[in-house]
Amino acid sequence: MSTQHNPSDIESVLHEDRMFSPSADFAAAAHIKSPDQRDALYKHSIDDPETFWAQVARELHWFKPWDRVLDWNAPDAKWFVGATTNLCYNCVDRQVDAGLGDQTAIIWEGEPFESASPEVRHLTYADLQRETSKFANALKSLGVKRGDIVTIYMPMVPELAIAMLACARIGAAHSIIFGGFSASAIADRVEDANSKVIITADGGWRRGNIVELKDKVDAACTQNDSIDHVIVLKRCENTINWHDEPSPDHGSKRDHWWHDLIDAASDECPCEHMDAEDLLFVLYTSGTTGKPKGIMHTTGGYMVFTYYTSKIVFDLNPNRDDIFWCTADIGWVTGHSYIIYGVLPNRVPTLMYEGAPNHPGPDRFWSIVARHNVTQFYTAPTAIRAFMKWGDEHPQKHDLSSLRILGTVGEPINPEAWMWYHRLIGAERCPIVDTWWQTETGGHMLTPIPGAVPAKPGSCTLPFFGVDAAIVNEQGEEQPPNTGGLLAIRKPWPGMLRGILGDRERFIQTYWSRIKTPAGEPYYFPGDGARCDQDGYFWIMGRVDDVINVSGHRLGTMEVESALVSHETVVEAAVVGMPHEIKGTGIAAFVTLAPGAQPSDELRDQLRAHTANEIGAIAKPDLIRFTDALPKTRSGKIMRRLLRDIAAGNDSVGDTTTLEDLSVLARLRQSEES
Ligand code: WTA
Repeated sequence: MSTQHNPSDIESVLHEDRMFSPSADFAAAAHIKSPDQRDALYKHSIDDPETFWAQVARELHWFKPWDRVLDWNAPDAKWFVGATTNLCYNCVDRQVDAGLGDQTAIIWEGEPFESASPEVRHLTYADLQRETSKFANALKSLGVKRGDIVTIYMPMVPELAIAMLACARIGAAHSIIFGGFSASAIADRVEDANSKVIITADGGWRRGNIVELKDKVDAACTQNDSIDHVIVLKRCENTINWHDEPSPDHGSKRDHWWHDLIDAASDECPCEHMDAEDLLFVLYTSGTTGKPKGIMHTTGGYMVFTYYTSKIVFDLNPNRDDIFWCTADIGWVTGHSYIIYGVLPNRVPTLMYEGAPNHPGPDRFWSIVARHNVTQFYTAPTAIRAFMKWGDEHPQKHDLSSLRILGTVGEPINPEAWMWYHRLIGAERCPIVDTWWQTETGGHMLTPIPGAVPAKPGSCTLPFFGVDAAIVNEQGEEQPPNTGGLLAIRKPWPGMLRGILGDRERFIQTYWSRIKTPAGEPYYFPGDGARCDQDGYFWIMGRVDDVINVSGHRLGTMEVESALVSHETVVEAAVVGMPHEIKGTGIAAFVTLAPGAQPSDELRDQLRAHTANEIGAIAKPDLIRFTDALPKTRSGKIMRRLLRDIAAGNDSVGDTTTLEDLSVLARLRQSEES
């Protein structure tokens, strides 16, 4: 069975006409019950977005209401102008104030699975109120103020949720870095955000091993002197280095144990009244050029958009026994929006799992679903492809009958994986929501609504409420059905990014310059190619820039190239995506070596390790080919299409250690590419 995006798969996407509708019972119990209801609401949301979003916003708590719903002066949007609120309040305190303090907010399961029972913790809203207050006071005791940016580099433990909510509570923004990133990646992000405090742990569990987080933070601190305080959670009883000496700009010691700080802290800490447009968080993501950019999200609009997309797309309902599980790491936007910020205000328990999907065995996820009665399950196509490969017997061992809705995110899902998910996990009963969105959009943009929009395998179907999406050409003209083009968003939406931290020019260049109306009004350009079919369904065709999507994680090919050329033996490197059975897209690197350096398997391993060191393990090339020169056009542009073809046909050639001459191929292609 082949599961990669091979040509026959693309064929099957083009000719995919199977439709899967929710059952009548499912639709009757859902928030949105029919296509007609969806269409009417959609029309309202596009014709009169301000009334539409005001109505949604009233389901949440505001200290002070807005004067105006939207101020739009492209590309700058202000939502809920003049209002004040607090997202931690809406996630936590609002439930306590409503008398729901003893209900479960977070269900957490640790990775170690000894004597057939893993460590499980249930945190109620009252627990979260107490713990976020204590930790917020701890942050204040280290001098953290409203408006500061706190960096978080933690494993998937409840304290990560507590740390981010504590920041929101006192009006400090957070910058969460995925635990797989390297010390250099931390140092770059800390410097860009000018963070003085970083929160980490003595380790986290992953596939039975300890991930050495504190070591990486120590190394990052040697590359950068902006950090005054490191807060360390004890998670693994791991031996770590400790820095007791005072930091240069600050009288007190650098490293602090989390437990010492909260022991000394009061559990009273009122939520700051934040302006709707105050910064909530920065999240770094890869782009076409240069270093990762810090995407800025603000408080009010992001809160309303993630709350409402969670409610409608996952059909969350606190009056049913819903248990929502998103398998992403909180270090990515999916975890920010759909483990914490969108889910908690819906008063539905959110499940957090610390570790790997195949520890201690390949059925771990299904055992979690069965033991906790998960009702909504949200994961990535790359995970689904891995499950398919591991075998049907693993899900079949467990009772998955609690599941109601399945979701996917991060990359296009091939119809074969969609059908497997539908049959093996959803028992042909659960609607699948294939959600297209980005770090920049804050929440779902193109997605089925499970009770109302029939699904087609491989399509993310229709725009969410308030999202005005279209397929256009380079001139901004809308394309007829089934014609490929650029995906564009033509109106502002509440969850949209408000900028790139410290780089206004890049914000405008990246998102607001490529597509314009004939009158010169910019459209939001997400960087994806897509087509719309005769039913108005969207089919994402992938990135049209130099960003690749490796296991649903975004990487800039330039980032990987810079990492490679920073190795002493490498003169030039070109990185392209290649089809990969599990990852969707793998990384292929073509490398020219400095005089005297010899191609070898050892060097290949060194270069892979070097890339992991510079960026993180997710950036390790799957294929490295040494070449005496990179094929270039007459004008000196690297012939990436040729390299992509070579990488895609890699199976027949294999990894070779010899120096290859790609110039012959290049000459053959010259006329085609120049
Ligand atoms: C891709 C992840 C097809 C897309 C939430 C986008 C998808 C990038 C889908 C954003 C989907 C995400 N179908 N492609 N359902 N979801 N993508 O910022 O190329 O990590 O631009 O956000 O992932 O990745 P990011």
